[in-house]
Amino acid sequence: MPQLQFKGKILVENHHLSVPFHELLPVREKGLSTRASLHDNLIIHGDNLAALKSLLPTNHGRVKCIYIDPPYNTGNEGWAYSDSVNSPLIRDWLGKVVDRDDLTRHDKWCCMMMPRLKLLRELLRKDGVIFVSIDDNEVHHLRCLMDEVFGEENFLASIVWNHRKSKQNDIGVSLGHNHILGYTKDGNHFEIRALPVNESGFSNLDNDPRGPWTLDPMDAPNVRPNLTYEIVNPATGRGYYPPQGRCWRFGKEKYRKALKNGRIVFGKTGRAKPYYKRFLDEAREKGRSVATIWQDVGTATNATKELNHIFGRKGVFATPKPTDLVRNSSLSISLHAQRNRSLFCGNMASNYVLYL
Ligand SMILES: C[S@@+](CC[C@H](N)C(=O)[O-])C[C@H]1O[C@@H](n2cnc3c(N)ncnc32)[C@H](O)[C@@H]1O
Repeated sequence: MPQLQFKGKILVENHHLSVPFHELLPVREKGLSTRASLHDNLIIHGDNLAALKSLLPTNHGRVKCIYIDPPYNTGNEGWAYSDSVNSPLIRDWLGKVVDRDDLTRHDKWCCMMMPRLKLLRELLRKDGVIFVSIDDNEVHHLRCLMDEVFGEENFLASIVWNHRKSKQNDIGVSLGHNHILGYTKDGNHFEIRALPVNESGFSNLDNDPRGPWTLDPMDAPNVRPNLTYEIVNPATGRGYYPPQGRCWRFGKEKYRKALKNGRIVFGKTGRAKPYYKRFLDEAREKGRSVATIWQDVGTATNATKELNHIFGRKGVFATPKPTDLVRNSSLSISLHAQRNRSLFCGNMASNYVLYL
């Protein structure tokens, strides 16, 4: 597999191994419980590399789901490389804010990400999954790093999050999405949880003993000769072919069986084109698959409003994410079992979220 090369790669490839273990110190007055405990939901304040390493002894291979929101490397977010890697090249990077004119900005970002991704992988359970938010500045590098650290075969999805509804016209193209890359620890063990079906479109107009149903179109996108044939409406005698560029959803033999089983309906009046009857019980069993385009999980503006509401003041974090986005990527997609604990780590609270 081709691998991404960047300045400093050789110096950081094993850096996660030499990061010292720090002891986590509970601060009771920053928490909500009367008794400070490390065996509770945690917000860890500090550099996330040190925070992740400090979680390893107790949480190695135990985390079901991770969501991270690392710096996007936009060139104007005030991010600086800060890891103490023992090399003159990297010492020269320390503390210098990475702006758009920095010719090594992508190298620095990759050097920062690699050890963190390696630690995150170690924390994941064998059926665990990780989601990483990112935008166009680094998505291509992130994809290569994730392929290298998690394995190309464990790629799950590249989700498009519609993060802004308003249009911006500064370069003639209005950017309306961020990416969320999903990787499993081991695709052979990971099972996606289907979403519940929306039951509002099901009814039982003909009192079918098989229960409520909905009508699906008989045609599907594709052009296949064995799926292109005439279907005659028995009530009107009119023949139907699939619309141009499409074919029927199944072949003649299966169609005949479906007709015999009362699963082909010619519209509500019986005088229209053919539809396929899909029963609620079947739909429930199958569930709804997760789409890769997310438009209804809140926008960046919604997230800011949510945060202002929680804290009762503005400007607590610069780039929050909406809770529905994090909930969607973590809870609905991936967690079969109840989540027991959440760990948040980073300078800002929602930087790295780990579900146990
Ligand atoms: C894309 S923003 C995510 C912000 C997050 N969603 C929030 O609402 O706070 C990236 C965040 O990573 C933080 N960050 C950068 N380097 C870090 C590090 N080494 N350790 C912890 N946090 C870091 C930045 O301060 C910034 O807040």
